[in-house]
Amino acid sequence: MNVLLIGSGGREHALAWKLAASPMLTRLYAAPGNPGVAQEAELVSLDIADHAAVAAFCKDKAIDLVVVGPEGPLVAGIGNDLRQAGIRVFGPSRVAAQLEGSKGFTKDLCARYGIPTAAYGRFDTAAAARAYVEKMGAPIVIKADGLAAGKGVTVAMTLGEALEAVDACFEGAFGGAGASVVVEEFMTGEEASFFCLCDGKTALPFGTAQDHKRVGDGDVGPNTGGMGAYSPAPVMTPELIAQTMREIVEPTMHGMAEMGAPFSGVLFAGLMLTDKGPRLIEYNTRFGDPECQVLMMRLKEDLLVLLNAAADGQLGHVSARWRDEAALTAVMAAKGYPGTPEKGSVIEGIDKAEASGAKVFHAGTALVDGKIVANGGRVLNVTATGKSVSEAQAGAYAAVDLIDWPEGFCRRDIGWRAVEREQA
Ligand code: AMP
Ligand code: GLY
Repeated sequence: MNVLLIGSGGREHALAWKLAASPMLTRLYAAPGNPGVAQEAELVSLDIADHAAVAAFCKDKAIDLVVVGPEGPLVAGIGNDLRQAGIRVFGPSRVAAQLEGSKGFTKDLCARYGIPTAAYGRFDTAAAARAYVEKMGAPIVIKADGLAAGKGVTVAMTLGEALEAVDACFEGAFGGAGASVVVEEFMTGEEASFFCLCDGKTALPFGTAQDHKRVGDGDVGPNTGGMGAYSPAPVMTPELIAQTMREIVEPTMHGMAEMGAPFSGVLFAGLMLTDKGPRLIEYNTRFGDPECQVLMMRLKEDLLVLLNAAADGQLGHVSARWRDEAALTAVMAAKGYPGTPEKGSVIEGIDKAEASGAKVFHAGTALVDGKIVANGGRVLNVTATGKSVSEAQAGAYAAVDLIDWPEGFCRRDIGWRAVEREQA
């Protein structure tokens, strides 16, 4: 099979690495990719926003499956446009991607199908949102409705902060994404990420992980796209997984099918494990980054077989088996991230880190004069496996220490919850 992978981050490097291992693969292309992806795929320069150009490329190269990594193209309808051109796609349609593209859409679906989530209000004017915030009081959560690169959520501990967040949204802090706002009840509990592969009818549980969103050790500082992750998340017991399938994922699949937008692709549920059971924080309609990296390290199955089954509505006939080991990834970021990261510094020692047994996925790198340089905020995902999360963590940090990049930094406590549980 010939496959085109869309995207350029660490997630896509992990997907490319796993796809390249499939005996079914003939040629793998990636657009735009990165120097890590280039180890596994032929990079092509395509304007991803030009769906007709992507379709023409697919026809020209006899592409059998397009795998879409990030949410942007999905929300923009690349799935619809490619399918209309007769090209098979792993990823949801434009409307199905609204589960990530519009927080209000998801909240309304939850309300209609009784899916457990925070109580909410949905507003199109600052005055109405402010009135609701004042009625409910703090702590309270303010969310820009649309895609805001992970920055559209404010967990406000005071009324003042909440009102400020409402005003910022309506004053355009998140562009069009903030023209509509969801105001939510504040939930408490431990967070976990739960993934399913979906084919429109069937949802196949596809692993658990925990992410670390804050930039600093001890979960302090500003939010990021994710500074590290590990899998599995021991807090997600088989009972909790079954409850999440029954109460959250299956009603979502049913609801989407009923509204004529069956969901296929990756359904990534961000969960809050409250004392009343799992509640949905949000959906993403793609793999998490860096959660995908740890899932791919543990997946025993041929990824291409599974993604094909999802694209063909055949997930009821396949299963996903996992290695018993835990996997952990530490994100190395360029100084300045999540503000303005410094670009262009040279990174050495990736080969040494990999020789130690770790896998280094490239997230934001570029190849300049034969050297790997930083080219983004999150730059490398140093990933290791082990018999326990503690062992995987030790492996990942031993590999981090072999990387020579003074302009980079990472959190030193990825996996701390699981490590504490293991040591208890
Ligand atoms: P999101 O971008 O929706 O994942 O939100 C970012 C983070 O905000 C989540 O990972 C949670 O830590 C937090 N958060 C979002 N919604 C709520 C809520 N209703 N109650 C408490 N924390 C929340
Ligand atoms: N790591 C969180 C996300 O991919 O949304």
